[in-house]
Amino acid sequence: MNVLIIGANGQIGRHLARKLQESNKHRAIAMVRKDDQKAAFESQGVQAVLADLEGTVDEMARAVEGADAVVFTAGSGGHTGADKTMMIDLDGAIKSMEAAKQAGVRRFIMVSAIGVHHRELWMESAPYYSAAKHYADIWLEHSGLDYTIIRPGGLTNEPGTGKVAAAVDLDRGQIPREDVAEAILASLENPHTIGKAFDMTSGETSIEQALNAL
Ligand SMILES: NC(=O)c1ccc[n+]([C@@H]2O[C@H](COP(=O)([O-])OP(=O)(O)OC[C@H]3O[C@@H](n4cnc5c(N)ncnc54)[C@H](OP(=O)(O)O)[C@@H]3O)[C@@H](O)[C@H]2O)c1
Repeated sequence: MNVLIIGANGQIGRHLARKLQESNKHRAIAMVRKDDQKAAFESQGVQAVLADLEGTVDEMARAVEGADAVVFTAGSGGHTGADKTMMIDLDGAIKSMEAAKQAGVRRFIMVSAIGVHHRELWMESAPYYSAAKHYADIWLEHSGLDYTIIRPGGLTNEPGTGKVAAAVDLDRGQIPREDVAEAILASLENPHTIGKAFDMTSGETSIEQALNAL
């Protein structure tokens, strides 16, 4: 499977690109926004395309062409304000879905955030971030695309354990970025995850079992 990673230069994105390449079954296509990022991926043998989430849907559709699946794991980051959050985490995400539809790519995996499907659980410090994720997820659920929405807890840079909890509603918790990347890869390979949206934290169950139990 050729997998376009939107946010490939990010922390989850890099884990995912490496895992896809190491799988020997899939090929990562890294969507990045800077020439030096493109060159860095290409030097590691990963195909890369230049496109910006603040660009046009047409530009993004050209990046999506040739992919079998799209993974959205981009984000404006905590250092920016509500304006960038709206343009990247909400509008950029929706433009990615529009681009996938335009390019005829049906499979779409969204990295969302734990609890955003309940307004009372939105982040007090940045409710606009939770709102952006929530409404992007709703757009995806109504898009007609073959979606999977993974809502991870707080992300850490600990090594992955391969053990998670996954359910529609989980108590807040943390999860290594590496495990989120592994869960994305496992979801791409598991059609049972199509049409599912779920919280995910570190837990006691293997990723495969946790996904099959959804
Ligand atoms: N932090 C948490 O605890 C937490 C919890 C749950 C969910 N999440 C979600 O997890 C996802 C990934 O997290 P992460 O830690 O891997 O993120 P990250 O390291 O901050 O990576 C985000 C990526 O998005 C890219 N990006 C930003 N603006 C862009 C634009 N205009 N066009 C194209 N790409 C753009 C960045 O590109 P550059 O490299 O060029 O800057 C970066 O590579 C995000 O969707 C985030 O909302 C985070």
